[in-house]
Amino acid sequence: MAPKRILLDIDGPIATITLNRPDKLNAIDPLMLEHFEDVLHDLEQNPSVRVVLIMGSGERAFCVGADINAWTALNPLDMWASWTRNGHRVFERLARLRQPVIAVLNGYALGGGLELALAADIRLAAADIELALPEVKIGTTPGWAGTQRLPALIGSARAKQMVFSGARFNAQTAERWGLVNEVVPRDALMAKAKELANDIALNAPISVQISKQMIDGAMGQAVSIALESLAGALTASIADGAEGIAAFREHRLPHFKGLNEENNDDSEA
Ligand code: COA
Repeated sequence: MAPKRILLDIDGPIATITLNRPDKLNAIDPLMLEHFEDVLHDLEQNPSVRVVLIMGSGERAFCVGADINAWTALNPLDMWASWTRNGHRVFERLARLRQPVIAVLNGYALGGGLELALAADIRLAAADIELALPEVKIGTTPGWAGTQRLPALIGSARAKQMVFSGARFNAQTAERWGLVNEVVPRDALMAKAKELANDIALNAPISVQISKQMIDGAMGQAVSIALESLAGALTASIADGAEGIAAFREHRLPHFKGLNEENNDDSEA
């Protein structure tokens, strides 16, 4: 059996996802995407996980992007119908995790690897790493939302500089541009990530998670999920919610209270 391309370690409230393909600098192939999605499914179901860290295995790379050998073997229709869409789906699922996600950039973050980091909420970088969207250097374009998430984060002018040049930028420039939150000496990176994760994990988890949804909504991401999940939770939890359901079950007209009467408690309905 092929080794797991993605490892998941859960230590109390903190989960660590590790991209596990160090011999290929954690390049993302179809199997890695598949394993990634399995892990995200597990994390969505796990109420005790409050913060998620994501990092690359080995010393050299967080992730060097899409596996060039895998995608160059595809015909254009397969690329259109599955490869690009699968990456989008998995990255979007990561971005939409209830829990905050911290990308721990412990090495190269290139191409799809940088796009993966952009789907996280917070990025910490080792001081000696390089980041790039080098797709134009090999005759392609960023395919997993780099052209969307990068300008949203650092502005279109800097995003264009990165994408048009394909050049590698150091961690310090990335920090100055707001692409990474903080640069940390390599030997202190994991400790810093865990310290931040622990600080977040001490806070009220639902408050943190709803705050994440609201900030994402403010950035135009998944606004309807945030609004409709909050609206649904509020309306279902007041007396009018219970009254509406009771009336449905009893085949009668409901008597709603609205703001005029006590409506905070559904125990009497
Ligand atoms: N896809 C598939 N394999 C990759 C890869 C990628 N994106 N990037 C690196 N690898 C593989 C190499 O083929 C090599 O495998 P091998 O040992 O079986 O030959 C291994 O990872 C190590 O990479 P190598 O190029 O030998 O290391 P290096 O130190 O000389 O260079 C990089 C490191 C990251 C600068 C260089 O590998 C690189 O530019 N990679 C491509 C990055 C990229 O363009 N990403 C966007 C893809 S769309």
